[in-house]
Amino acid sequence: MCSAATHNVKSIQAAASPEELKSLIRRRTQTVRSLCARLLRVQDEERRRLARELHDSTGQTLTALKLQLASLQEGVRVGRTDPADFAQVNALADQALRDIRTTSYLLFPPLLDERGFCSAAEWYVDGFSKRSNIQVRLHLASIGRLPRLIETAFFRVLQESLANIYRHSASRVADVRLTETAGIVVLDIQDYGCGIPAALLDQFTRAGSGAGVGLAGMRERMEDFGGRLDIISGPSGTRIRASVRIQNVSSGSNQSSGFKHAVAA
Ligand SMILES: Nc1ncnc2c1ncn2[C@@H]1O[C@H](COP(=O)(O)OP(=O)(O)OP(=O)(O)O)[C@@H](O)[C@H]1O
Ligand SMILES: [Mg+2]
Repeated sequence: MCSAATHNVKSIQAAASPEELKSLIRRRTQTVRSLCARLLRVQDEERRRLARELHDSTGQTLTALKLQLASLQEGVRVGRTDPADFAQVNALADQALRDIRTTSYLLFPPLLDERGFCSAAEWYVDGFSKRSNIQVRLHLASIGRLPRLIETAFFRVLQESLANIYRHSASRVADVRLTETAGIVVLDIQDYGCGIPAALLDQFTRAGSGAGVGLAGMRERMEDFGGRLDIISGPSGTRIRASVRIQNVSSGSNQSSGFKHAVAA
């Protein structure tokens, strides 16, 4: 069951009278509407960012490549070609390939499907640290492969938590831990910054509203398959804890070995 639904059922059970129920439903409907509107805005922003990135990086490289090709063509026409021109065409084509690879990897890193969460996390954290100048210490237990849904959810939680650390926390250091204890896998992302404003966190924890798409989306993803997202935050930092109970299964998996199956906690 999704988080909003879980939350609603608990609140409905706690509501005493029909009047309370009506006002609860009204509040929930407003929350869902504003979340949907925010989601659409974020989607638009993401598309704008991608369009700008494609235009500014790959677009510019391809324009330079075209100019270089035109000059080469002219050189061939007048019987004067310089091997250095070919080398430059090659370099520009390489640059365009690199730009496209970076953009597509950031959207969905192939490593995640091919080698699993740990490899994708190492790759992502490396790039994030270089781009942001935030030191991220990775402590990843070797727990083997998890179902694709969980690996993807963990990866998105990691991305959003690091993005929040960069945008909001002012922390220069973060710790990322992946552990498995008694069948519960936990991804823990900790910073040492200013913390989430207490009123905002309180509203989000009580009513599921007041935050952006980031926190709500992470919680929604985790609760979708019986996991959970806990947020512990104060003036000395924030800790995002995504956890899910798993059990080993011997067959019927879509992954070759070490496959584990999520069960509702
Ligand atoms: N690590 C953090 N440190 C300090 N404040 C944080 C942190 N993470 C989140 N916050 C606070 O919680 C708010 C909600 O976070 P959330 O990720 O839901 O939305 P957002 O980052 O503002 O926007 P988006 O919808 O693009 O993610 C942030 O605006 C910020 O005030
Ligand atoms: Mg965010």
